[in-house]
Amino acid sequence: MPSIDFQDDAFLIDPYPTLNALREESPIFWNEPTNQWMLTRFEDVSTTLRDRRLGRAYTHRYSHREFGQPEPDPRWASFAEHEQWSLLSLEPPDHTRIRRLISRAFTPRAVKQLGSTIQGFSNDLLDTCAEKGDFDMLADYAQPYSVAVICSMLGVPHTDAQLLLDWSHAIVKMYELTASEETKQRADTAAAEYIAYTKELIAHKRKRPDGLLVSELVQVEDDGDTLTEAEIVSTTMVLLEAGHEATVNTLGNGFRALMHHRDQWERLVSKEVDAAVAVEELLRWDPPLQLFERWILESDVEIAGQALAVGEEVAMLFGSAQRDPRRFENPDIFDVARNESSHVGFGGGIHFCIGAPLARLELARSVAGFAERLPELSLRSEPEYHPTFVIRGLKVLELSA
Ligand code: HEM
Repeated sequence: MPSIDFQDDAFLIDPYPTLNALREESPIFWNEPTNQWMLTRFEDVSTTLRDRRLGRAYTHRYSHREFGQPEPDPRWASFAEHEQWSLLSLEPPDHTRIRRLISRAFTPRAVKQLGSTIQGFSNDLLDTCAEKGDFDMLADYAQPYSVAVICSMLGVPHTDAQLLLDWSHAIVKMYELTASEETKQRADTAAAEYIAYTKELIAHKRKRPDGLLVSELVQVEDDGDTLTEAEIVSTTMVLLEAGHEATVNTLGNGFRALMHHRDQWERLVSKEVDAAVAVEELLRWDPPLQLFERWILESDVEIAGQALAVGEEVAMLFGSAQRDPRRFENPDIFDVARNESSHVGFGGGIHFCIGAPLARLELARSVAGFAERLPELSLRSEPEYHPTFVIRGLKVLELSA
């Protein structure tokens, strides 16, 4: 029987040969170590994302006992509180209501207005990288860049950026399939501190509205419906976490790929290929988010010919789906001009990434900025990936200007 060992170093360094082999062997298989069905092919992943008979959450319809799941560990109460009203923990009708209210504040117009601010952050950080000559793409550019953008959007003081980053890094480790007790403890403590911070921020915005996202969330109203404090806390935190890590890791994984494929980098430098087009290939070829889960909520569900029972869990392998030759021609080839924006990198269906327009803008500005300002960019040492799978990203990316 096929299975994936999420602790195998060789797999974590380069999962694609294994994912390719598993996908060609079977569209779906039971992974004993994690008690999940694994989905490997693009069509099935794409359809499953949109299938309303499955959900990210089940507690709106079933008890933990009915799903054979343990009661939440009381030791991680703050972590549970922080994600309770996150869009990623909800299903309709709560999800529909809260997503609609957030969408009223987080509009394409609000994103567009951030355009020149984003350009400014990118330019300043590029200056620093150029001055340094040798720099770490993640610590010197991607992290400060993405956190500055998200702080500007939310209306959080930039002086608190490091604090938010440390909390966010600690919290998201709870989502790994192999998180230790110590990691979970750190995630919970970070969540508690972060909740206290966000409550204060909300109180401040109530007194002094500034037109930015947290302030708008406080004020947003739709047919007499408003967001509660707990809902705003979860929303602020999910926007920061979801908005930060994935953007940073797309830049890290993406620039690693560009440095390894010099011919593709040159196509950006010469402007033969537009940065916005290349971004779609960065998201497809080595995605920063590799696995998303869904619970089976209804009976008679069949996926890829396999009957699935209520209470079972399906894990969708994005990295595998995005290298599926049934959907992408020569999928292992990194081609910045591929122009396939219908990958699943931002998900699909009701949980489709609400930040996709912002992420695309941030990524395109960065790719264009580096190609224009630092065309001689080169790799100083072969970067290492973090030994995690769900969130795939580099530890450092040492480059020379
Ligand atoms: C390259 C960067 C990004 C990637 C690859 C990415 C990817 C994703 C994916 C795959 C999902 C769907 C999860 C699922 O279906 O289970 C998602 C949802 C989400 N993303 Fe993003 N994201 C990125 C950037 C952002 C940004 C910049 C923000 C906000 C500022 C953001 C906020 C969210 C939120 C709030 C959700 C939950 C939506 C819902 O459940 O209705 N993301 N993202």
